[in-house]
Amino acid sequence: MTPITRDQFDDVMMPNYAPGKIIPVRGAGSHVWDQAGREYVDFAGGIAVNVLGHAHPALVEALTTQGQALWHLSNVMTNEPAIELARKLTELTFADKVFFCSSGAEANEAALKLARRHAFVHYGPDKHEIISTLGSFHGRTLFTVSVGGQAKYKEGFEPTPGGISHVPFNDLEALRGQISARTAAVILEPIQGEGGVTPATQAYLEGARQLCDEHNALLIFDEVQCGVGRTGKMYAYQQFGVIPDILSSAKALGGGFPIGAMLCTDAVAPSLAFGTHGSTYGGNPLACAVSLAVLDELTKPSVLDNVTHKAERFRAGLAAINAQFGLFQEVRGMGLLIGIELTPQWHGRAKDIVGAALEEGLMMLVAGPNVLRFAPSLIIPDADIDKGLAHLTAAIANLTGH
Ligand SMILES: Cc1ncc(COP(=O)(O)O)c(C=O)c1O
Repeated sequence: MTPITRDQFDDVMMPNYAPGKIIPVRGAGSHVWDQAGREYVDFAGGIAVNVLGHAHPALVEALTTQGQALWHLSNVMTNEPAIELARKLTELTFADKVFFCSSGAEANEAALKLARRHAFVHYGPDKHEIISTLGSFHGRTLFTVSVGGQAKYKEGFEPTPGGISHVPFNDLEALRGQISARTAAVILEPIQGEGGVTPATQAYLEGARQLCDEHNALLIFDEVQCGVGRTGKMYAYQQFGVIPDILSSAKALGGGFPIGAMLCTDAVAPSLAFGTHGSTYGGNPLACAVSLAVLDELTKPSVLDNVTHKAERFRAGLAAINAQFGLFQEVRGMGLLIGIELTPQWHGRAKDIVGAALEEGLMMLVAGPNVLRFAPSLIIPDADIDKGLAHLTAAIANLTGH
């Protein structure tokens, strides 16, 4: 067999991604190795996916055990792991009912379709408008790029679905000005992830809840990035004590195995009646078995309780780096979803820092052109936090020449 190289990507893969130079071949915990055997510390977690690191023994065990039992049936049949996982999710959250799919975009697609259908069933076709926020990201299907608040993801794909508007994030008056009897739903990320790791304020989420109630609109929280333990609670809404009608989850829910879920209350679930929606792979037994193992691990007290401690270690390390180089304007986020906004002189250069960090042996992320992002494993050992931050220090020293 011809050896696989990065150059071959451009020969045979669509150009919609531009992956880095190395090809990772193996991972364990918060470490990844490339083809040449070079080791990297992973602060990216597959963009907030590998919530328990790489090759966690409990997840490997769940996947291999289920792999020997039953892979797939279709939704013409149900299966044990799907029901067990749905039961667990309803125990852990506000939700009464669950719809499974395979990605975050699909979870949001289901949430938005449910919201429209619910309004249609109860109030008629005029109540169909969806209010979203500028800077938000909800996925790459046509409906979700249309609802997302970043124009660049829509360009060239128009005409997009109608009845969607965008208001500034964390601006309750703007939401109050937009919401009306025609609003079917308001969709928010409790922490805007791709938009720059910006948490909602308490008053904003509380106000949004109240406005939705006043206008018979549903409140959807997109927790695809900030959910599943990342903030130190199972879902971010639990940090705020503001309860949505619908919640979308994916990414970390499978710890690296594709799964998405839409969670909702009994008050709205009947609107997605038999035959109105579906997905071939939704509720796949392999995905559900792995996700159950993820939730079992995360609900061990030591895991979520440690998120705050680990986040403090990251923040202390970042403060020390900033004392040396003065590149960071603000460190924000919640728990182990950390955003680092660069000073104006470094605007547009987040990518350069991520590239330099990779050279030093650290995988990390950007969130837009001006913000660095960490979304590591929630069980990353302290020693790996220190090691990764030392790599970041070396990378910045190289870039700044200090
Ligand atoms: C908040 C949010 N919603 C939805 C998505 C889309 O998820 P997926 O890429 O699994 O479709 C993402 C992905 O980054 C996200 O961060």
